[in-house]
Amino acid sequence: MNILVLGANGQLARNTTRVLLRDTDAKLSLYLRRAQRLKNPSPNRVTIVEGDVLDRAKLTAAMKNQDVVYANLAGDMKKQAESIVAAMHATGLKRLIFISSMGIYGEVPGERYTSVLDPYRDSAALIEASDLDFTVLRPGWFTNDPEVSYSITQKGEPFVGHDVSLNSLSDLIVKLTTTSGLELRASIGVSRG
Ligand SMILES: NC(=O)c1ccc[n+]([C@@H]2O[C@H](COP(=O)([O-])OP(=O)(O)OC[C@H]3O[C@@H](n4cnc5c(N)ncnc54)[C@H](OP(=O)(O)O)[C@@H]3O)[C@@H](O)[C@H]2O)c1
Repeated sequence: MNILVLGANGQLARNTTRVLLRDTDAKLSLYLRRAQRLKNPSPNRVTIVEGDVLDRAKLTAAMKNQDVVYANLAGDMKKQAESIVAAMHATGLKRLIFISSMGIYGEVPGERYTSVLDPYRDSAALIEASDLDFTVLRPGWFTNDPEVSYSITQKGEPFVGHDVSLNSLSDLIVKLTTTSGLELRASIGVSRG
């Protein structure tokens, strides 16, 4: 199993890389800007690729021979999602795990999120409209609690809870990347169970 991690220097991506190396035998390509920031944690299994997700040619090249794309991004997420979907189409890759945020559908009881979530909404909408085997994750606030404990809500259901540990999200991402058919074409809320 070959997994391409986009935005590999992100907080959640770094935690998930650690858990993927510990709990699976997957080979990882860690794609990030300014790659000198990241030390290769396992040269036998990890390739570090310097690149911007908006550089479509480089992204397409990085997708060669991959099985799964795990996108852990921030910023102009609509443009990033467009680039990812196009590169996945170009390479025939189908499986995408995409980190978004709670609140994009107004699904968090008592919370009104403003335009700060627009990039998350727009990118999720674009991915949901694609023909990819996506799972969009809508996590609550990240915590450093070492515990793994989470529950999932589906799109259309009210979000339950408020926060979720990085370890819980990494546990779920490992399951999603390594188990075929899990939460396919789904957008799931994730919070402490
Ligand atoms: N923290 C929370 O409680 C929380 C809750 C819900 C959702 N989220 C969302 O979940 C996502 C992941 O969280 P996180 O804490 O891991 O985020 P993070 O630490 O900010 O990581 C995001 C990564 O995306 C990379 N990136 C941005 N634009 C890129 C581009 N064009 N090409 C390549 N890489 C690019 C950044 O790289 P550079 O270092 O090069 O800028 C950064 O490393 C974020 O969107 C975050 O907003 C967070």
